[in-house]
Amino acid sequence: ADPDPLQDFCVADLKASASLNGFPCKLAAEVTSGDFFFDGLSKEGNTTIFGSAVTPANVLAFPGVNTLGISMNRVDFAPGGINPPHSHPRASESGIVIKGKLLVGFFTTNNVFYSKVLSAGEMFVIPRGLIHFQQNVGEGKALAFTAFNSHLPGAVIVPTTLFASTPSVPNQVLTKTFQVDDDLISTIKSKFGS
Ligand code: GLV
Ligand code: MN
Repeated sequence: ADPDPLQDFCVADLKASASLNGFPCKLAAEVTSGDFFFDGLSKEGNTTIFGSAVTPANVLAFPGVNTLGISMNRVDFAPGGINPPHSHPRASESGIVIKGKLLVGFFTTNNVFYSKVLSAGEMFVIPRGLIHFQQNVGEGKALAFTAFNSHLPGAVIVPTTLFASTPSVPNQVLTKTFQVDDDLISTIKSKFGS
């Protein structure tokens, strides 16, 4: 989904501020082999309250992907863990399960739900912008790698967007949206520390 590159590469200079579209290039004379290799996905992530950990290899973590229109994530799951419903405004996603059993699903703009339980070696695809999740439905830990056609796909995470924004969404917006009472909304907000 990103624009095509206009040169071989443009290793991001993260010290410069992001301009209109992405980061300026590091000086060619300062580019080394190290800019094109990244070991940040080699370690298991620390799982959050959701029982999952997303470790990104996007342009902010791996400046070598700047302008190349690609990036990846590592996603670790504790037993029962979920990578909660979220969408990527700037990319389609593909993924492969490396370990464990994952229930993977996404929703169309007409609320049609497509899902499947995947095992090691099996892949999925999530069309750009659609809400999706993965849940570990196996016995032990699970591991997946995902790939995106953007160097910075972005993630809109539904539960934290609605219940842990800064500043907080007024409760009356959420009580009316979900047709529940104020106490329930406050309880959900408290789970996210807000
Ligand atoms: C999984 O959905 C991911 O965004 O890495
Ligand atoms: Mn995703």
